[in-house]
Amino acid sequence: MTGKIDTKTKLAGLIGHPVGHSVSPYLQNTLADKYGINMAYLAFDIASDGDICNVIKGAAALGALGFNVTVPYKKSVMPFLAGIDDAAKKIGAVNTLKLEADGYHGYNTDLPGFGRAMDYAGISVSGRNVVLIGAGGAANAVMCSLLEKGAKNIVLLNRTVEKAEALAERFRKDYPDCRIFTASLASTGSAGTKPYTGMMDDISTEKWVAVQCTSVGMSPRTDASPIDDEGFYEKIDAAFDIIFNPEETLFLKKAREAGAVTSNGLGMLMFQGIRSFEIWNDIEVDDSFAEELLNGMQNAVKGSR
Ligand code: ATR
Repeated sequence: MTGKIDTKTKLAGLIGHPVGHSVSPYLQNTLADKYGINMAYLAFDIASDGDICNVIKGAAALGALGFNVTVPYKKSVMPFLAGIDDAAKKIGAVNTLKLEADGYHGYNTDLPGFGRAMDYAGISVSGRNVVLIGAGGAANAVMCSLLEKGAKNIVLLNRTVEKAEALAERFRKDYPDCRIFTASLASTGSAGTKPYTGMMDDISTEKWVAVQCTSVGMSPRTDASPIDDEGFYEKIDAAFDIIFNPEETLFLKKAREAGAVTSNGLGMLMFQGIRSFEIWNDIEVDDSFAEELLNGMQNAVKGSR
């Protein structure tokens, strides 16, 4: 909050390591101001995994309203919670805590955050072919959202193909209507082309939506893209990158130049934060401030570099 702190002020915050460049305090305190909620949101840098149990117990004893949880604690916080919602269980990670009478309950707002960001960007995946690049924590939540939103075919690409296969296997049984394929980002076919482009052609002649969930291209190493093959970009008509610094990654630039609609990851960050704010305060936030918030967050990202 930017208003006055008093005895009624509710405490919320971010738990992670590092948290120094986070724009969540800007986002949450701006939302609190906009909605007239007496809440202050701070960033807590927790250096050691061993402290998480004490952090949760201490915060509950203080009556702190809730927290966002970020790297590296999205899994390790789970044993100390009184309850975990279905989305967080499915994804296997928690990014939001809310204090109830019996302790903190865990939620995952990355899933709805990604879905709302895609809607806001005007990118629909219902009945579509989707290439998901990456198989880490972020890709896990995105995968779940793509399946919930009715993607028809998903090709999951990762440097380590075993991780892609493990992620695909976790979801195949629960979503039999979607065909999930996996392939290695790294291997190159005989003509120097990537085998997955041929795989995409074999699956469907329709265009694809591409979602980039690796850390490749993130500042300061902005001259890299997980996919260099120009033929790949001709197959897609929409591209989403979870990276938001730089504002346009090389991946998004290549996609835009090939004619695709593009969106960076700031929308996902904003909407996951909005969903956390909604959970904490039992309210619904509409999109009326979205553009203003995104601009403010963009400036906050630039300021924290
Ligand atoms: P996050 O929580 O942000 O998803 P993560 O769980 O560490 O972070 O996952 C990082 C993702 O980026 C993984 O898909 C990783 O590929 P591997 O599973 O093969 O490690 C991918 N990644 C990171 N560095 C990469 C690189 N240089 N080239 C290709 N992929 C990379």
